[in-house]
Amino acid sequence: MKTTHSVSDRLSITEYDAIVLCGGRVLDPYTNRDERADVAVVDGKIVNSAPSSARRIDVSGCIVCPGLMDIHVHLREPGQTHKETIETGTAAAAAGGFTFVACMPNTKPPLDQPEPIRSVLNRAKEINLCEVGPVAAITRDRGGETTTNFAALLEAGAVAFSDDGTGVESDPTMRAAFEQALEHHAVLIQHCEYTKISAGGVMHAGEVSTALGLPGLDPDSEEAMIARDIALCREIGGRYHVAHISTAKAVELVRRAKAEGVGVTAEVCTHHLVLDHHACRTRNPNTKMHPPLRTEADVAACRQGLLDGTIDCIVTDHAPHTHDEKEKGFLQAPPGIVGLETAVGLASHAMIETGLADWPALVAWMTRGSANVLGRRPSPITTGEQANLTLIDPHERWRVDPDQFLSKGRSTPFAGWELLGRSIATIRGRRLIGRSGELASAG
Ligand code: DOR
Repeated sequence: MKTTHSVSDRLSITEYDAIVLCGGRVLDPYTNRDERADVAVVDGKIVNSAPSSARRIDVSGCIVCPGLMDIHVHLREPGQTHKETIETGTAAAAAGGFTFVACMPNTKPPLDQPEPIRSVLNRAKEINLCEVGPVAAITRDRGGETTTNFAALLEAGAVAFSDDGTGVESDPTMRAAFEQALEHHAVLIQHCEYTKISAGGVMHAGEVSTALGLPGLDPDSEEAMIARDIALCREIGGRYHVAHISTAKAVELVRRAKAEGVGVTAEVCTHHLVLDHHACRTRNPNTKMHPPLRTEADVAACRQGLLDGTIDCIVTDHAPHTHDEKEKGFLQAPPGIVGLETAVGLASHAMIETGLADWPALVAWMTRGSANVLGRRPSPITTGEQANLTLIDPHERWRVDPDQFLSKGRSTPFAGWELLGRSIATIRGRRLIGRSGELASAG
């Protein structure tokens, strides 16, 4: 066993030959398993029994589940490493319980060529805190006009395609993207926003924006693009995924398309499950994001969308910006908040503490649902599988303190909130990555 501390000593990384997680609640959505059991890992693989020399860690009271996946994060590298790096972003991911994140291509330069895709993958492997799947741009320079070379980008390791940060507005370009995606069995992830409708808006257009005198962002900018894309998907085929869905009508559009058998999936951000536009009343720039916080009815519709299977998975849209950028005031501040380190607690706040759902459902939305969207191989907790696990303490009550984040980003509207449920460690192969002080000295 070898233990090192890293990233401001807030993570402890331990390499084990053999380890047994004793007495946890093993919750595996891939096999529908939910039972109290030991999980043994030898040489990085799940085994039936470990040698008597194995390190034993008491995890009773905790959930042992497949590694959490967040398919929508911004790691900002290359080009904006003052906001986040692959190292700080994946450290934040590991601290939040994630063993896989998909990172968006709105870097500088954007991920529209094979070379930066390969660099992101190599850097993430070098750091080895959390697996990273780069999402390549749909269009060159994310300019919305000419589609990228999907075959070359897939070959380099892209896991999906998106112009996230902006949507692909041009009809012929989106048609070409669908055709290329179909040919290469690729997933298109759309940031649904027609800027011709949303231009200038800084928050949801409604009674709060009117009261504050702030320019509103019309929900139709999101819904109209989803409707256009569903029509294209119905006609052309393939797999289309709605990023950060935020309105009741958008959820309904996806629900109907799924019922028709169109290949559409959707994700919802933790903040859209918890807050509505009233949170913007204080003009806190940490309540500014795209899409914006919507109405109470929209929040309820997003929750319902998860419950009835319309929405497949929960994501964070972790979007770090510097303190100075976010301090520019509501009008000028860039949109986006961090989310990796609050995701489990916020998801539990929205779906479990409300009595709407239970841990098996929540874990499924953060593992199987996300894997399905990207068409990734399941990672069940079964003998012979590479260990890919998250340990969650569902009883831990904790206070959100942005100063403790491993992310460089500190912008969150949840500072000071008390949340219930937190990841305490991840295990990938031989590596146990825990928040320092949690499992570091256990066993
Ligand atoms: O709030 C957001 N921030 N939404 C996006 O789509 C982009 C993101 C960012 O990159 O900052």
